[in-house]
Amino acid sequence: MANIVVVGAQWGDEGKGKIVDMLTENADVIARYQGGHNAGHTVVIKNKKYVLHLIPSGILHRGKTCIIGNGVVIDPGALLEEIRGLRHRGIPVGRNLFISESAHVIMPYHIAIENKSEQARGLKKIGTTGRGIGPAYVDKMARSGIRMIDLMDSRVFKAKVKANLSEVNYLLERRYRAEKINPGKVYSKYMKYAEALIPFIADTGVLINKFMDKGKDVLFEGAQGTLLDVDHGTYPFVTSSSASVGGVCTGLGVAPTKIDGVLAVVKAYTTRVGGGPFPTELKDKLGKLLRLRGGEYGATTGRPRRCGWLDAVGLRHAIRINGFSGIALTKLDVLDELEKIKVCVAYRYEDPYKLCSCSRKGRACNFTDIPHNNRVLEGCKPLYKELSGWKRSTRGIRRLRDLPKQARAYVDYIEDLLNIRVDVISTGAKRDEVIVLRNPMKGKKRYR
Ligand code: IMP
Repeated sequence: MANIVVVGAQWGDEGKGKIVDMLTENADVIARYQGGHNAGHTVVIKNKKYVLHLIPSGILHRGKTCIIGNGVVIDPGALLEEIRGLRHRGIPVGRNLFISESAHVIMPYHIAIENKSEQARGLKKIGTTGRGIGPAYVDKMARSGIRMIDLMDSRVFKAKVKANLSEVNYLLERRYRAEKINPGKVYSKYMKYAEALIPFIADTGVLINKFMDKGKDVLFEGAQGTLLDVDHGTYPFVTSSSASVGGVCTGLGVAPTKIDGVLAVVKAYTTRVGGGPFPTELKDKLGKLLRLRGGEYGATTGRPRRCGWLDAVGLRHAIRINGFSGIALTKLDVLDELEKIKVCVAYRYEDPYKLCSCSRKGRACNFTDIPHNNRVLEGCKPLYKELSGWKRSTRGIRRLRDLPKQARAYVDYIEDLLNIRVDVISTGAKRDEVIVLRNPMKGKKRYR
């Protein structure tokens, strides 16, 4: 029996969708624990592309149970759209999907507030997905949020909408000079959503623990990535949830002792979408080449992703936070054409403003862990190790021995540098374009 968490080790978009899809074969239950429809998990099956935002990608496999946990924030309209889209393509969605009654609901006013506050930030904007994610989590923490269970009680729901809008409308009108939102319209729209969603709502905390007690294998599907985690990411340029492993416990009601392993999904280079520091970013034609070859455009917003070299400083941080038991290295084939490949091993920081908190304050120092002062992080220059490229296609390779020797050396170098084993290497977008050295859902066995 194995209950495994799949977590992004960078700024999201590491290719978790494909890895989760691959591991799903050996799982009984697939559960999401945080985030919302800001996520976009792309899976390609028999040349058909599926992009999932809220529903775990396990839904694409028959006979699997999917759970959306209490840590997720749900836009009911977006969820229903996703359900409709899947059904339209012949994917059954019914008793195979459970939604936590405690998950918070994204309301139209969350989206309105987010858009206005992003505009007001000007150049300092976070670059959010504009889906109302942050404000929904704000309401959750402020204890004024609306939960899925409230959709089942129209009186409670109506009262909450009215109370919340009396505050929000004041803000919209007075602070942002924007139009007020009509509570009656919101109420009617959401009661329609409620009708369609009530059959899926359950106490998923009890349910998932029952499954585990019966010996079912659970795959916990992370969204976004560790460097976007609200506590452990590059704050404030983060999402508003716990994207790292801790989110599993709070976002599903699962005890840490029930987790058997944590698989890191690491892209063979780095990408970031939205604002915030990115020390290894390539703003030249090499960055463009990675974007082009990797199809690096947001699955949710279509925005071009910023691209750069692999960053071991960020990865060390992610390894410490998550206690990864192995790595799934994705998109190796995107590097196929490159003459040289670089890996950032540390950051160099010159400290003219005496901002650094280390013992060398005011002088130059090297960081092997991420500094949390954003002005320091923005001033960091990457120190690189250069490796040879392989200049040959690795697309679709399925055995380690078939990799060009330089590609193998790149994988070995990552393992040595980070002191962690690579379990899976993805060599293309399709389901079977992968080298599996160890399947974490199948226990400890390694196939070298
Ligand atoms: P939010 O999650 O919409 O609040 O956006 C906050 C930050 O997280 C922005 O930089 C987004 O681009 C980023 N972000 C949110 N979801 C994803 C994702 O699934 N992949 C990559 N970046 C994301």
